Amino acid sequence: MRLAVLKERRSGETRVAATPDTAKKLIALGNTVVVETGAGLAAGIPDGAFAEAGVEIAPDARAALAGAGMVMKVRAPLATGEGELDELALIPEGATVIGILDGLSVPERAQGYAARNLTACSMELLPRITRAQSMDVLSSQANLAGYRAVIEGAAAYDRGFPMLMTAAGTIPAAVVLVLGAGVAGLQAIATARRLGGRVSASDVRPAAKEEIKSLGAAFVGVEDEETAAAQTAGGYAKAMSEAYLRKQAEVVGAAAAKADVVICTALVQGRRAPILLTEAMVAAMKPGSVVVDIAADAGGNCAATVPGEMTTTANGVKVLGYRNWPGRIPASASALYARNLLTFLTTYWDKDAAAPKFPEDDEIVRGVTLTRGGRVVHPQLAPTPAAA
Ligand code: NAI
Repeated sequence: MRLAVLKERRSGETRVAATPDTAKKLIALGNTVVVETGAGLAAGIPDGAFAEAGVEIAPDARAALAGAGMVMKVRAPLATGEGELDELALIPEGATVIGILDGLSVPERAQGYAARNLTACSMELLPRITRAQSMDVLSSQANLAGYRAVIEGAAAYDRGFPMLMTAAGTIPAAVVLVLGAGVAGLQAIATARRLGGRVSASDVRPAAKEEIKSLGAAFVGVEDEETAAAQTAGGYAKAMSEAYLRKQAEVVGAAAAKADVVICTALVQGRRAPILLTEAMVAAMKPGSVVVDIAADAGGNCAATVPGEMTTTANGVKVLGYRNWPGRIPASASALYARNLLTFLTTYWDKDAAAPKFPEDDEIVRGVTLTRGGRVVHPQLAPTPAAA
């Protein structure tokens, strides 16, 4: 089978869906791997490194996609009107497309994949079960985003992070508040602690409190009957009531007023990110303090966040609202993402067919598959009848 890897064309995307290491393993399975020229450049992988691994370098997307049985992407292929090139139209009918396709948040995409008879796997929909951990693109990318948020927060903060006792005087440790203690937040806590910060964190899921404390951070939050039931069966947080958010705002606001760096990571699946830092709370923060909002792609946890930008408020608080935080550490993010895809493919690889076979009754397959056989099949999307 020909596996095509395209240059990512969506705005600000720096990652690539394969590395020389994963390409080599895919080739060892009997595939031909074709990478569009320049696909790895933004992640620090020149064409030559792919070529050394045995990859065929294609001069453009059209050539990379010609005859491809599978397309590996980071983000959804561009469709008509979405950019400089209609990538979707170039994908051979019947091929498999794998990537972070935003299958549920942009449901019309699935119709386009079904119309072209593609098997589309939207990897962000992977169930968070133990068996799927090594394929979990949300976890691998969130982990790096949490790390990078602290590194950029520390760089934007005009003071030292660890306590520095010098002959010329003492620099106090930075006070760090982490909002949301999922995969990204826990990594942010660990990173801020390693840098010498004094860290506290807030979350609504009961399990998160113990995890925060086990990393040596203090828990800031409200525990009541609502938080006792705040976790969905899938492990995600539920959207909290207005009354709860008001109570939470009081304790978070008090902690934010004392914080030097606030790292925002709170998300609620399928919804806008909750606002946890209001304009008033930001106005009460110290000048020179920094808010890093990695929830910016989902609207942000901070009311002052301008998604995609770094801004400074009237009272001198820097707000880093960049999008695509994993893309700000592209070499590591690509390495882990490419590994996730490789594991997904090898898990379902059928040696005799020299292709993956995705069993329809498998929990992971059911979770990620948007379309198959010309139909939208995902249980959370309106199914379409089989093409005539
Ligand atoms: P996420 O990215 O959806 O959300 C980030 C965090 O924000 C979560 O911890 C969530 O509880 C928190 N949050 C939501 N509303 C909030 C509010 N109002 N205030 C404060 N915090 C708020 O979550 P992520 O990182 O994807 O993790 C989701 C779950 O999946 C977790 O339970 C995690 O342990 C679990 N997980 C399980 C894996 C497995 O294979 N078993 C792998 C990865 C994650």
